[in-house]
Amino acid sequence: MELTGEQLKITDTLLKRYLPRSQQVYGCLVLKNRVRSDLVRVFADRWPEFNVLACKPQYEQKGDLFKDTLVFAKDESSLEETMRKSSVIDWTRYALFINKTGSGLSLSSLDESHIGLVNQTWKFGKNEDAVRMISNMLANFPSCCVLDAEGKPASWILTYASCAMDMLYTLPEHRGKGYAKVLISAMARRLHTEGYPVFCFIEEENEVSHRLFKSMGFIEEPSYREAWFEFNGF
Ligand SMILES: CC(C)(COP(=O)(O)OP(=O)(O)OC[C@H]1O[C@@H](n2cnc3c(N)ncnc32)[C@H](O)[C@@H]1OP(=O)(O)O)[C@@H](O)C(=O)NCCC(=O)NCCS
Repeated sequence: MELTGEQLKITDTLLKRYLPRSQQVYGCLVLKNRVRSDLVRVFADRWPEFNVLACKPQYEQKGDLFKDTLVFAKDESSLEETMRKSSVIDWTRYALFINKTGSGLSLSSLDESHIGLVNQTWKFGKNEDAVRMISNMLANFPSCCVLDAEGKPASWILTYASCAMDMLYTLPEHRGKGYAKVLISAMARRLHTEGYPVFCFIEEENEVSHRLFKSMGFIEEPSYREAWFEFNGF
């Protein structure tokens, strides 16, 4: 069934009990309840005693911001029942980091003139889908950047549809200057101050980033691994 109005607000509160496992869907609901109501539809297997929740994008074109359906399940068997094929899930790829406190500075935002730059440097970018996604992220959610002496972005960070901080990048010639630290602090403080969850996903093999976030007070949630799948026709 689809959840609407008060049901969404109650579910947002109920999901807090299941953090950090509910982090992605919780973040999505917080945004939906506070900022925009038309981009994501939320479905529950039943309500209010739900076992599985899915935030489904209003998928119009390939590459739209809310391309990914985010799923929270209270337990594995509920998920299995809902997804039918739990064997396709590989939980080993991403570690979840959660911030304990927010601190930092306020910096410039990125705008649409920076879409190409972010797309070219993002590991999963360099394609048309990513351009649309980045464009929507910049238009709808917070971003931060450090500008160089000529006013060009040297380092940046964006926010994903679930509130996750994402696409952190420092141009090679500007690395080691502390820019990423400043941006993470600024973004974490902004999200924290406004009542949004503060978290990010880091690929397990990205040791520099692991160390960086840990050194800033983020804690890894070992019980949680995130995985992304592409389904035909989904
Ligand atoms: C990870 C990344 C954003 C760091 O940017 P940065 O602006 O150079 O980071 P900072 O200057 O703020 O450095 C932060 C810390 O990381 C350390 N660090 C940065 N790059 C490092 C490297 N290549 N090797 C070892 N340590 C490194 C710094 O020494 C610093 O630690 P310290 O404060 O203890 O000295 C940058 O290397 C990058 O863009 N990498 C490719 C994209 C990526 O992996 N993004 C993260 C996705 S989650």
